[in-house]
Formats: sequence, C-alpha cells, structure tokens
Amino acid sequence: MIKKLMAANWKMYKTWEEARQTARELVVAIGHDLPSDREVLLIPPFTALQGVGEMLAGQGGYFLGGQNFYPEAEGAFTGEISPGQLTDAGCRFALVGHSERRHVLGEKDELLARKVAFGLENKLGIILCIGEKIDERKNGLVEEVLTRQLEKGLGSIDRNVSAKDLSIAYEPVWAIGTGETADNEDIAEAHLLIRKKLKDLTDQGEQIRILYGGSVKPDNCAGIIGLDNVDGVLVGGASLKADSFSQIVLA
Ligand code: PGA
Repeated sequence: MIKKLMAANWKMYKTWEEARQTARELVVAIGHDLPSDREVLLIPPFTALQGVGEMLAGQGGYFLGGQNFYPEAEGAFTGEISPGQLTDAGCRFALVGHSERRHVLGEKDELLARKVAFGLENKLGIILCIGEKIDERKNGLVEEVLTRQLEKGLGSIDRNVSAKDLSIAYEPVWAIGTGETADNEDIAEAHLLIRKKLKDLTDQGEQIRILYGGSVKPDNCAGIIGLDNVDGVLVGGASLKADSFSQIVLA
C-alpha cells in the first residue's frame, strides 16, 4: 500500500521557536488520529530543522525534510547545504525544483537533474516538483512541459530507484500561493500523465508517490486526495498554522 504523504512547506517563514511551537501543536492536534495510511512531512527553514526534529522525536509517521540542497558532498559553496548535512540534521526527504527555485531563483532542469541524482545517491528521499505556468496552460503546453521536466529531472537516475525514495509533486505554478486551485479534472489528468511517464522512466513507476500542490486548504483537501493517482499533498500557506494543517492531514 502506498501511504499518502501530507507535506508542509514552510518556505522562508518561522523562527526556531515558532517552528517548534507549530510542530508541537500539530502533533497534539493530530494526536492518535493519524491514519495508518498517511505520513506527515514537515519542511521548515534550515535554521529550524533541529528544533522541529526534536518535536517529532519518537512520533511514528512524521518525517523532516529540507527545502533545497546543492549537489556536492562539501566544498567552497557559500550559502549552500549538502545532502549529508540535511540527513545529519534529521532529514529523510528534500524538495528539488520547487517553482520558487525554478522561477524566482533561476534553477534550470540541468542543475535539478544533478540534484535529484546526487540526493538519491546520498540517501535523501527526493520530491521533484514540476508544473506549468499559466501561459503554458493557456497555450496547451501542459503535457509538453511536464514531460520535459520529468525526462530531464529524472534523466540521470537508476531505473530501479526505490519508490520509497522518489516522489513527484505536481504544482501548477499559477496555483501556488494564489488561492486558485486547479480543478479536480485537471489534477487527475496531469497526475495520470505523470503516472504514465513514471512507468516509462522507472521500474517502480506505479508506486512512486505523486503529490498535488497549489492552494490546498482544509476545505478542498478531501476532494483532491481522493482522486486517482494523488498520493499526497504539498502545502504552503495552509500548513503554517497547526489548526489548518491538522485538518488537511486528517481530511
Ligand atoms: P501554497 O504553496 O499551498 O501556499 O499554494 C504550495 C507550495 O508552494 O508548495
């Protein structure tokens, strides 16, 4: 059975203490109700990883993740962080190619492909984020964009990558932080396309989790999570408060 992954991306929000507090409140709010077919992933800023990790210690079903890393083991890369440093801080997973890294910070498919391969080689589970911009959707380019991002992003990995170590997050750029969610039909269509491509590119493509992200909220989560080929959600804004994120996790 594929467990659904309910992931919270806290971006550049929260101090050490605020992050610990939210993590603590979340664990209390969910209590013993975390369904056995779900896992929770908290992705705080780097400075709060250790503090949040302490709050999750001993809690089954909760994981810690990094928002980004650089594909080298160590070296003169001021401002960057390595996969080994993330695992050392307690991370099981990391995001690669979030739309803000692609479109605000200018990361290209070639760099993202190196990150995916290097992260996997260094025992980090990877969540590769992909998604089209609004003009690409309007011009009928969704399939082309998603195919390109998947083929390039996964171009340097082993076909036999374990489904436990790789997930894809489909996040239409125009739905991130805008309050505008893709409609369920569009989500199902995109996820089916991604599933087919994953089966082409990897041996365990049927089991690799495909998350949806983009304005997921307590009131739309149940509908989204119930769609075929939706194996979790990646949540920004509505994950910042324990109250709303616990409702999403339990939706
Ligand atoms: P949002 O962000 O939930 O605020 O739209 C999603 C994301 O950036 O992963």
